Amino acid sequence: MKIGILISGRGSNMVALVDAVKSGEIPDSEVVVVISDKAAAAGLEKARERGIETVVIGRNNRSRTEHDEDIVRELLSRGVELICLAGYMRLLSPDFIRAFPNKVVNIHPSLLPSFPGLNVQQQAIDHGVKISGCTVHFVDENLDAGPIILQKAVEVKDGDTAETLAARILEQEHGTYVEAVRQIVTGRVRIEGRRTFFDTPAETAVGKR
Ligand code: GAR
Repeated sequence: MKIGILISGRGSNMVALVDAVKSGEIPDSEVVVVISDKAAAAGLEKARERGIETVVIGRNNRSRTEHDEDIVRELLSRGVELICLAGYMRLLSPDFIRAFPNKVVNIHPSLLPSFPGLNVQQQAIDHGVKISGCTVHFVDENLDAGPIILQKAVEVKDGDTAETLAARILEQEHGTYVEAVRQIVTGRVRIEGRRTFFDTPAETAVGKR
């Protein structure tokens, strides 16, 4: 399966996915492009070091729709079949989602539906939750709202700051994202309404070729 990854910054989840594809942990796949909306994203260099083509597509004061059209074109021209958002900090336009139905996944550093949006570790601490974590989900037209694929819980400790909690959640994100993508590319994930199920016959799976 041809995978495209969208980033805006550090790119540690992107690195985890690229390395898992290279090692075969995510089988029969290739990361064909890493696209960033920010030229300064540190992840770009990490992708290039791993031999992955990188493309920067800045917003440049254009509308979300115009910006996304460029990204969709780059993805389609490379035959991308699965798009992984990895710290990509922009909402996708409805046209983008329609171009890749059930083919865009995201990782978010909270247990959705709690704490969508930004600064979510601080939101979790301020709310006083004892457990947070990360969520891998399909992306639909609403913010952090599509069907959930995998979640991993992380304890919120008394002395946590947003930074210490973010670091402990991030440790869990990499393996969780790799496992979710592995399940998708091996044809095991099926969506029914808001719910997803694993170990399904290949003919009904999301992302079948
Ligand atoms: C990760 O914690 C990811 O879950 C989060 O940004 C960080 C990116 O780190 N994503 C979001 O908040 C998306 N709403 P990375 O660039 O090192 O993968």
